[in-house]
Amino acid sequence: MKLLIKNGILITPQGETKADLLIKDGKIAAISKNIEEDCKVINAQGKHVLPGLVDIHVHFREPGFEGKEDIESGSKAAVKGGVTQVCCMPNTNPVCDNAVVATYIRARAAEVNLCKVNPIGAITKGEQGETLADIGRMKSAGVVALSDDGKSVMNSYVMRLAMEYANGFGLKCLCHCEDKNLADGGAVNEGFNSTVAGLKGIPRAAEDIMISREIALSESLDIPVHICHVSTYSGVEIIRSAKARGVKVTAETCPHYFILTDGIITSYNTFTKVNPPVREQRDVDEIIRGLQDGTLDCIVTDHAPHSLKDKQVEYNSAAFGISGIETSLALSYTYLVKTGKLTLCELVQRMCARPAQILNLTGGELKEGAPADIAVVDFDKSYVIDGSAFVSKGKNTPFNGYEVYGVVEYTLVDGEIKYCNK
Ligand code: DOR
Ligand code: ZN
Ligand code: ZN
Repeated sequence: MKLLIKNGILITPQGETKADLLIKDGKIAAISKNIEEDCKVINAQGKHVLPGLVDIHVHFREPGFEGKEDIESGSKAAVKGGVTQVCCMPNTNPVCDNAVVATYIRARAAEVNLCKVNPIGAITKGEQGETLADIGRMKSAGVVALSDDGKSVMNSYVMRLAMEYANGFGLKCLCHCEDKNLADGGAVNEGFNSTVAGLKGIPRAAEDIMISREIALSESLDIPVHICHVSTYSGVEIIRSAKARGVKVTAETCPHYFILTDGIITSYNTFTKVNPPVREQRDVDEIIRGLQDGTLDCIVTDHAPHSLKDKQVEYNSAAFGISGIETSLALSYTYLVKTGKLTLCELVQRMCARPAQILNLTGGELKEGAPADIAVVDFDKSYVIDGSAFVSKGKNTPFNGYEVYGVVEYTLVDGEIKYCNK
């Protein structure tokens, strides 16, 4: 099987280049000018050709919460968003804390056969924070990392054991940083707007304390650690200074943390409810600086689809989470590249190459010999976000009505067209 992408603007590790890209047997066979080949041709004139996005933090909800999302609907949403590879958090039912669930997820993903789906195993049994999960067997079943996402492992001794044990199997812990006692059932960022809205706040310190603890453990044990969805200016500063000391810490953020501020909560729109919560302008500014200087290695979605019945309730009772996988590229392009904060090459680094490197995954770069995981995107074309039109079962986006640039025309996985909107 061959496929030729002609006349696109390619984003390669060397930079932007106008060239053709030839795919053979699922791999990138050649990148050069004026390739002629007798095969199917995609005309990418005026379009950008990027590596497919690698989203290392999503919730596809299967098994157990298929009403919110399943591997098929999540994968369809992914390829529509230009995403070719995801890593699924284990807060399913049953929790992915054993080899059987991890194997099931891989098998379902293979049947669906759209994007690449990697399971993340839980750190502790049932994500209860007490007993380590079956880490060795999960590694054999193909988990690519460990996380108790949704909460922190509150017991520091258990977390230390987890890091040591995980490291022995070559797995990294991905840490949702939230001191449960300090967050104390809050719903939004603690500050002026939580007071105006009459909603209970979650202080930055609830996040920063756990970021600091994970860094302290990582530094003293000399074991790599990854910090999930950084939302605070102070968290960025803690990570920056740890990196300067040589700590093996990597970190991610999400589009909602560099676009939204907590002024939006006074609308009481529960689609804005997410954990950690969106914060203030000062946080947005520092997160963007963190993306610019590499303190924040990557952009993920924390794609957290929920059913309307879990969101159409009073703010305090609504589920936390934003359905983000269909809009992450266009939102990031619009708010980071169009505004001159990052170049397109830097954005691709943050959404493709870095996340793949952090978890040792293939893909994320356009180079000869790499898997042909590719997105063809028209960044001149804009559209208005409408969550009700998402292919994800989760229609919960706070970005309804936002005009964004970047329409995915084709998504290819291992050289096969998995999405085409033409
Ligand atoms: O907003 C969130 N939603 N944050 C989390 O940590 C978990 C996630 C979910 O599973 O819905
Ligand atoms: Zn989380
Ligand atoms: Zn999450």
